[in-house]
Amino acid sequence: MRTSRFALALALSAAGFAMLNPVTPSAKEVPLMTPEEARTRADGLLARMTLEEKVGQLVQYFDFGGATVAGADTTGVDLDAAVAKSEVGSMLFVTDPARINQLQRVAVTKTRLKIPLLFGFDVIHGLRTIMPVPIGVAASWDPDIAEKGQAVAAAEARAVGLHWTFAPMVDITLDPRWGRMVEGAGEDPVLGAAMATAQVRGFQGSGIGAPGHVIAGPKHFVGYGASLGGRDYDEVDLSENQLRNTYLPPFKAAIDAGAGNIMSAYMGLNGVPAAANRWLLTDVLRKEWGFKGFVVSDANGVNSLEPQGMAADQKQAAVRALQAGMDLAMSVPSGPSPMLSLIEAVRKGELDEHALDEPVRRLLEAKFRMGLFENPYVDPAKAAKVLDDPEHRRVARLAAERSAVLLANAGGLLPLDRKTLKSIAVLGPLADSGQDTLGPWVFPANGPKAVSILEGLRAKLGKAVKIDYATGVTWPTRKNRSFFDDINKPASHPEIDEKAEFAKALELVRASDVTVMVLGEPQNMEGEAASRSDLSLPGRQQNLLEAAIATGKPVVVVLMGARPFNLAEARPGALLEAWYPGSEGGTAVANLLVGDAVPGGKLPFSWIRSAAQAPYTYAYLPSHQPAGANSRYWNEDNLPTWPFGFGLSYTSFAYSDVKADRVTLKPGEAVTVSFTLTNTGKREGDEVAQLYIHQRTGTSSRPVRQLKKFARVMLQPGESRRMQFTLNADDLRYWSEVTKSWIQDVSTFDVWVGGNSQADATTRFTVVE
Ligand code: NOJ
Repeated sequence: MRTSRFALALALSAAGFAMLNPVTPSAKEVPLMTPEEARTRADGLLARMTLEEKVGQLVQYFDFGGATVAGADTTGVDLDAAVAKSEVGSMLFVTDPARINQLQRVAVTKTRLKIPLLFGFDVIHGLRTIMPVPIGVAASWDPDIAEKGQAVAAAEARAVGLHWTFAPMVDITLDPRWGRMVEGAGEDPVLGAAMATAQVRGFQGSGIGAPGHVIAGPKHFVGYGASLGGRDYDEVDLSENQLRNTYLPPFKAAIDAGAGNIMSAYMGLNGVPAAANRWLLTDVLRKEWGFKGFVVSDANGVNSLEPQGMAADQKQAAVRALQAGMDLAMSVPSGPSPMLSLIEAVRKGELDEHALDEPVRRLLEAKFRMGLFENPYVDPAKAAKVLDDPEHRRVARLAAERSAVLLANAGGLLPLDRKTLKSIAVLGPLADSGQDTLGPWVFPANGPKAVSILEGLRAKLGKAVKIDYATGVTWPTRKNRSFFDDINKPASHPEIDEKAEFAKALELVRASDVTVMVLGEPQNMEGEAASRSDLSLPGRQQNLLEAAIATGKPVVVVLMGARPFNLAEARPGALLEAWYPGSEGGTAVANLLVGDAVPGGKLPFSWIRSAAQAPYTYAYLPSHQPAGANSRYWNEDNLPTWPFGFGLSYTSFAYSDVKADRVTLKPGEAVTVSFTLTNTGKREGDEVAQLYIHQRTGTSSRPVRQLKKFARVMLQPGESRRMQFTLNADDLRYWSEVTKSWIQDVSTFDVWVGGNSQADATTRFTVVE
């Protein structure tokens, strides 16, 4: 009975896109193993395990296929032999189905208990078919497309034999110097929580073990986005107020959505490395939140407790991590996993063997729920079909179109008028680089391909419009090498004579009806180990931009990257933020530029003026001098260039008649705010209606504005819609440093609704005793 159920599950997983919809009849027919059944089976197995076999389950190794990473030997452990000795429970970084089957065969045929391996990987925004980077998807403010995109990613991952993804990354950050902002949802906990929930649903489908889906692993628990100076890996100090109100909510949302795993962060949080932080991993995660899944460290996160000064040696590192609540140590196999030293710790009486039981049980449960004991192998022939499913690319295009944010459009330069357009100059090295269009966390071994923006424009307009291209500028070289470049070779931009190329680019600008410049950062300037101390465009892109604008010809800039670039005084006619738009990036951007798609995305962070303003949030606390809030700097304004939540459309919207359904309410009661949204322009378009609140007084000072609700809606020209958002008690609560608990104060609350965080349509209500 069980076997056939899981055989059916595997067959269904090859059906790829059909799995996107968890309510397809076939998906419904496959009952998932209940957590209780998984626990019973895990208990049965656990009772038969030796100390050594238990410890082996707590070990996860990278398989880099022998490559040297960061100058470190990654072959210090013979992986196949370690699996055969039951010294490994999980592997990562293998995505070749043949190699996955090979390692799995060792586990299930050569070990005493035949426990299968769990395979994980960083499927951050796709495996073969690449969605826009997560910050871009967050800019869609459309949880539905986020879910669909990650369901595609899950289908492809599962098809090659992966069971688990190290995603979604749900770290809040207020600091775009930090290179990993690209992987998350930006600065806001409400948007962050919505995107976290949607992504977990996309990855996991109807639950852990759903065919064509994988376990989701929200990361990095917690606070990684607040590293000092925006420097990747550096320490983080966050008050409980900040943690509870801002940084923890997306994790809580991901867990409430059923995420099966959590990855701990690298850095020290308030002085205690996250991988050995018992308050985080046990008190908050398990005791308060009731998390039942397993916790994995970040890469070498347990090993690193030694250099971080939290452990005297690897054995102490493993003991401290385990005692804090760690289950699985992810390690580079340059030497044996620190977890293996737990055997000695138990033998010497430094650790009770029973301390291993719960972590092992959790890992076994995940394996049972994923059906690995019944179906350990993957079918490589079926994988190819899923990876090349054209439906996946359709989702990728839609996601890229919905992610784009229109930041400026003077005189309605966009959409380009196809009737009169005869020639376009396309400029910038990124315009013709498929690899950069994919963004970070995409690996050539998985065969991802992208339509570049130049290719997209040529495919769309090539017959009717003359399209000329010049790179214009070259790339600066990186000062400090990233180990990431070992794993992911950066795109090579051809050597050019920059002076001649710059001049050629300007000639094209002068000779063309319109110029489309694709500016930003290459793939490897963002992501892990890619912090920057300034936000200007790298290389001579700014010079090229200014020179192009100075010709007086219309200039459209398409930005690629996830940082709020500082364009200084340059004001191109139109500015479209495309992020790293993924596999169908070029197609989507071409559709947007000619109006076959209408931009409707909104910024998921405040677009600060320069790196000097970081960290920054729109949700700051009022000071004793509220009137001067915008003039704190001697030399410039505080306000960002564009506020959180901002984005234009090819049409326009108006908000009116904002009303709360009650003027007063008691603590615990709900209030509904309604308003009229009108498309006042001449074409259909999407608007993201946003609701912000401000609590005037209370036991603590509360932010000047906080996003509480949003909805992306499409309206026809002239259409008006009465919309409403209900604020529940939870929306009006916050965690108080005074009471050390969640409270709701009596206060008047100001409410604003509108298309960005500076919305001015307002009403108010009062919570009374
Ligand atoms: C380190 C990164 O911080 C983490 O996000 C990633 O999942 C692991 N390496 C595995 O690649």
